[in-house]
Amino acid sequence: MTLPQRIVDFVNPRAKHQFKGRTCSIRSVGSYVPEKILTNHDIAQRVNTSDEWITSRTGIKERRIAAADQYTSHLAANAALDALKKGDVKPEEVDLIIVATITPDMPFPATACLVQKIIGAEKAAAFDLEAACSGFIYGLEIGQQFIMSQTCNTVLVIGAEKLSTIIDWEDRNTCVLFGDGAGAAILQNRPDSHGLLTTVMGSDGNKGDLLCMPAGGSKNPANGDTIKDRLHYLRMDGRETFKHAVNAMYKAAREVLNRCQLKISQIKHIIPHQANKRIISAVSDRLQATKDQVFINLDKYGNTSAASVAIALDEAAANGCLKRGDLILLVVFGAGLTWGAAIIEW
Ligand SMILES: CC(C)(COP(=O)(O)OP(=O)(O)OC[C@H]1O[C@@H](n2cnc3c(N)ncnc32)[C@H](O)[C@@H]1OP(=O)(O)O)[C@@H](O)C(=O)NCCC(=O)NCCS
Repeated sequence: MTLPQRIVDFVNPRAKHQFKGRTCSIRSVGSYVPEKILTNHDIAQRVNTSDEWITSRTGIKERRIAAADQYTSHLAANAALDALKKGDVKPEEVDLIIVATITPDMPFPATACLVQKIIGAEKAAAFDLEAACSGFIYGLEIGQQFIMSQTCNTVLVIGAEKLSTIIDWEDRNTCVLFGDGAGAAILQNRPDSHGLLTTVMGSDGNKGDLLCMPAGGSKNPANGDTIKDRLHYLRMDGRETFKHAVNAMYKAAREVLNRCQLKISQIKHIIPHQANKRIISAVSDRLQATKDQVFINLDKYGNTSAASVAIALDEAAANGCLKRGDLILLVVFGAGLTWGAAIIEW
């Protein structure tokens, strides 16, 4: 699809003057999910829940769980190698690695540095970014800045999580929702594409308590009491989070559409954060999107936080759903609170 020039000018005014038409495109995507499948029936053996309750409230049927000796850096590196292979890019070509995660291997060094070592991206700078489930879109926007400014030619953005390590497996309110996995995208300038047209990022720290892990940082360093009180696990007010997710995702999606002067009918695929089918339905109803436009794979993986949209994007690409020139809307929401949306010409 050829976009009217006015859209390109509006979205990316710098391109014409400062960057001489340079754009930032996704060259390739990749993903990795661990082999082990944990079904709703399996969880019903541990806590008082049922497949019927989980499916009707969330749409999730199963999720993947990483092995004990498989850490976030391993999941991230596997996704990165998949994206590098699909894009025919060598690890040595990568200038920057950004890993979005709330479950780093350890507080430091950054998981991105561990990935740099595993994949052999010798010349790459590397850092982690923490925007919870919104991390992948935050990563795309940050990566884009480095491409547009010509600081980097190749940026590797990864969303990766081993959420099973911060789930309270005794808490039925949360343990049914999440899973492990990783997705990755390679960003480069591609002269024949508009690429990443526009991105919105937002946050509201006033509502940080709705979804958090209370201990393990400088506020509540690990000690016997924090462990006894189960403060090293994710905590969530589900109903409030749900309401804010729908509002924030709808507003972010509307904003990127308005910026590009696009109607929802011009969007080929909507790839939302895979948290809950009811959240996705509420957002797409408000956007007046059709069911065919919305990509959903949360039934297989649950909510994989920063990895979710990246895994979905890779699956949509692998299924042959995404064609050159298609306009794709990504929209996310997460702890922080954080949210974001992006429109990409594939
Ligand atoms: C968590 C969520 C699925 C709960 O669904 P819900 O429709 O809001 O649930 P309700 O509030 O109607 O029902 C809660 C009841 O179900 C019970 N319940 C909670 N989890 C349950 C489970 N796994 N199995 C059975 N019952 C459960 C609760 O104890 C509560 O019981 P009570 O009414 O006797 O106190 C939903 O709120 C949600 O998805 N929120 C957003 C979460 C999310 O996506 N977070 C990540 C954002 S990035």
